[in-house]
Amino acid sequence: MKNILIIGATGQIGSELTMTLRGIYGNDHVVCGYIRGAERKGALMESGPAEICDVTDPQAIAEVVKKHNIDTIYNLAALLSVVAEGKPMLAWKIGIDGLWNVLEVARENGCAVFTPSSIGSFGPETPREKTPQDTVQRPRTIYGVSKVTTELLSDYYFNKYGVDTRSVRFPGLISYVTPPGGGTTDYAVDIYYSAVKGEKFICPIPKGVYMDMMYMPDALNACVQLMEADPTKLVHRNGFNIAAMSFDPEEIYAAIKVHKPNFEMEYQVDELKKSIATSWPDSLDDSCARAEWGWNPQYDLAKMTEHMLQQLSVKLL
Ligand code: SER
Repeated sequence: MKNILIIGATGQIGSELTMTLRGIYGNDHVVCGYIRGAERKGALMESGPAEICDVTDPQAIAEVVKKHNIDTIYNLAALLSVVAEGKPMLAWKIGIDGLWNVLEVARENGCAVFTPSSIGSFGPETPREKTPQDTVQRPRTIYGVSKVTTELLSDYYFNKYGVDTRSVRFPGLISYVTPPGGGTTDYAVDIYYSAVKGEKFICPIPKGVYMDMMYMPDALNACVQLMEADPTKLVHRNGFNIAAMSFDPEEIYAAIKVHKPNFEMEYQVDELKKSIATSWPDSLDDSCARAEWGWNPQYDLAKMTEHMLQQLSVKLL
């Protein structure tokens, strides 16, 4: 039986992953690790164990791991790309010093570790379309620099100490549950909120700028599937390209207009977001994830849009 700790469990991915994993492995076997001030009312903190577990505090991680006999850690603590540009040292402290803490506790206690990487680990010199699994990674953002380091340090712990580290390069993640905070891809979530509220959407990303995106149910499946994968089949580890859809603002706008014909969008380009978005690939080649652990996403833009609009209407109206 797995005993899982999720660090950053109240965030965009963690809040849904915690509940998904509790559904699979049992409520008592999945610990919601949160930081002071991020407490939430409701099922996330009440349907199973919850512990204060700051990724920058190695002692706290070790204590929670020992107390709950943890064998798998999902390390989701991070600052997203736009916020990280304003606080580069904090981004490093959480992303990399935090990762060292997690990996050391994992080494001492025999835990497997999942730490997300991102499309942000690529940069302007990377092949832009169908970006290969193994290619140039020279990102220009501190977010990207910390994600490349995450991949390398995770591989290092696997090769040197045998710690079972695994990772995917997430694209922009879209969900109606917990909003993202401060990413370059956030516009693709915000646009649905505007559409459902009947407001005009002000788009910060220019027309024609493509980024890979994914609906949260597919992202959650990726986490579970990769951590359950047969290790003898894994040629790669940190981290796998995964892809589900790629679109520019015009295409997501058109997909929403199918359901909301009166929806309006106007561009007010944010220069920081533009410079980050144009330094990232347009679409990733995910054939290694498909071959090595059976990655197979279920949602394309049309199917995601229908579901997002339905669910957000229930939530907001
Ligand atoms: N969603 C992230 C961001 O925009 C990319 O992985 O920062």
